[in-house]
Amino acid sequence: MATHQGALRIIATGRYVPDLVVTNDDLSHIVDTSDDWITSRTGISERRVAFLEATSDLASKAAEAAIRQGNFDKTQIDLIIVATFTPDLRSPSVASLVQMKLGLNHLNIIAFDINAACTGFVYALNIADKMLNSGAYHYALVIGAEVISKVTDYTDRNTCVLFGDGAGAMILCHDPQKVAYFNVASRGDGDQILYVDDTVHMDGQKVFQFAAKVFSETIQELLRMGRIIIETIKKIIPHQANLRIIQHAAKTLDVPMDRFFINIQKYGNTSAASIPIAFAELAENDELMSGDQVIFVGFGAGLTWGSCLLTL
Ligand code: UT7
Repeated sequence: MATHQGALRIIATGRYVPDLVVTNDDLSHIVDTSDDWITSRTGISERRVAFLEATSDLASKAAEAAIRQGNFDKTQIDLIIVATFTPDLRSPSVASLVQMKLGLNHLNIIAFDINAACTGFVYALNIADKMLNSGAYHYALVIGAEVISKVTDYTDRNTCVLFGDGAGAMILCHDPQKVAYFNVASRGDGDQILYVDDTVHMDGQKVFQFAAKVFSETIQELLRMGRIIIETIKKIIPHQANLRIIQHAAKTLDVPMDRFFINIQKYGNTSAASIPIAFAELAENDELMSGDQVIFVGFGAGLTWGSCLLTL
């Protein structure tokens, strides 16, 4: 597990979820499940499903929300990274489509996608930090965006109740005052536990065990490197995969549940989009102040996992 220091300032955040709400009761008409089972095992009550929108549409709308929120001159963006495992097409990348949809075609921009499944946004921030730190790029637009409904098998109750569609975006720049720490990792031999061909396949219990273990370990690595005690962390914004995984981590880390930001009940698991959607929502609630430290933590297919600590 590589742990290293960075320096990253969040300039603005935004999110977008499709209008269509699919409740647990709706799903109980499609597969043999119930609101009680889904809520008690996962914490999910409903999720959003993209109907006529593609991943790049969701990503662009989240980016536009961030641009509006920060009143940011979008022509300054010179780096676009989209974390996704559900791109519109194999090529071009969602990031290139976002460049086009934002009307930034004429600018000198580097745009590409990365796929680290549900850890994608943490990986993308890590990459953005290094590219911004090099001095070659100045303003990054980093997006997590997924339309998981298009790879969901709606006859498989083990998986179809878990996922949702959405996108979250951040605009960032290098800032030596804003200390960051990153801890990211991958284990390629977990490829049969969670994978996506035409649809998502998952051994839920094995993923649960893996997530419950790495969630607290990766955070402890960050804290060790930064010589920080967890009590000083304002909020932990985890990948929203299962409420019980977060409860397990809270117990292991000995942190009260109210220090975790949770919105899984509304959106389900939106993979690479879950952390930036959650952070944008938290920022909208006006609970954050300059100087606060927050931790993002993700885990998913690969197996991949990682966390980062950012100073606001
Ligand atoms: O973002 C990527 C990371 N993914 C995750 O973090 C997911 C991690 N895993 C999980 O969240 C949980 O393992 C699940 C929510 C997927 C499943 O919960 P579980 O407590 O591990 O249930 P289980 O797989 O052990 O299944 C228990 C029972 C089984 O029935 P039997 O064999 O005991 O009769 C399943 O067939 O629940 C049944 N079941 C369902 N019943 C009603 C599985 N899915 C459903 C369902 N509705 N949707």
